[in-house]
Amino acid sequence: MNQNNVIIQLENVVKDYRIGSGYFRALKDFSISFGHGEFAGFIGPSGSGKTTALNIIGSLDQPSSGTCLVLGENISTISHRQAANLRNHQIGFIFQTYNLLPVYTVYENVEFPLLLLGLSDTGRKKMITEALEMVGLTDKIDSRPAQLSGGQAQRVAIARAIVKKPALILADEPTANLDVKNSHNILELMVKLNRELGSTFVFSTHDPKVISYLQRIIRLEDGRIVSDQPQKQEL
Ligand SMILES: Nc1ncnc2c1ncn2[C@@H]1O[C@H](COP(=O)(O)OP(=O)(O)OP(=O)(O)O)[C@@H](O)[C@H]1O
Ligand SMILES: [Mg+2]
Repeated sequence: MNQNNVIIQLENVVKDYRIGSGYFRALKDFSISFGHGEFAGFIGPSGSGKTTALNIIGSLDQPSSGTCLVLGENISTISHRQAANLRNHQIGFIFQTYNLLPVYTVYENVEFPLLLLGLSDTGRKKMITEALEMVGLTDKIDSRPAQLSGGQAQRVAIARAIVKKPALILADEPTANLDVKNSHNILELMVKLNRELGSTFVFSTHDPKVISYLQRIIRLEDGRIVSDQPQKQEL
């Protein structure tokens, strides 16, 4: 990989979770880098460290030792404030359970990450409309999450993740609550966004449907990377 293109670099990362008087080592000597525009994913058994790795890359958590550089920031030494700034401006998150705010409309849910960026009302409106168009949900703009199907709710979550056109999108089991048809639609959409926005996507998944879309598959077992392979896509 061309070093200038690297936006995520983990070197010898170890993550220990404290449990009672001891600890549990969830990541062990974990080294990996990702380039701009990748469409990659962590796979592996439950408990192998996929979410832990994504949380560290997303600056939601810090390594116990080793270094993790993301978009020029050192996650190992970053302050809470700098981490929040990095997430607010550069990283979009998509979670298994959508995490939409139930009392707000679709429009307001997608607007949420923009409120932190100090944009004008008209600037925000343009971005929200564009994001909802990309995920095909302009007709649901005034609906609330309870009035949406699972696939629609996940598309709102995707719109929320992409609305600020972040350099990096992290998706933790994004199809876990979707049926086969919705999963494929969501994946086609993410491939399209990866191409159009040039954003890097890093997934965590068990889902064979997601795996079939990945351009790079990183397999974890027991907190370690056991394989890291490109996957050729048929166009
Ligand atoms: N806050 C925590 N405190 C203690 N142990 C934790 C904590 N978070 C995760 N772990 C442990 O670390 C290991 C890795 O967890 P992680 O959530 O990264 O797994 P995963 O690969 O995402 O699994 P799944 O496929 O089930 O989502 C697990 O054994 C888990 O029990
Ligand atoms: Mg997980």
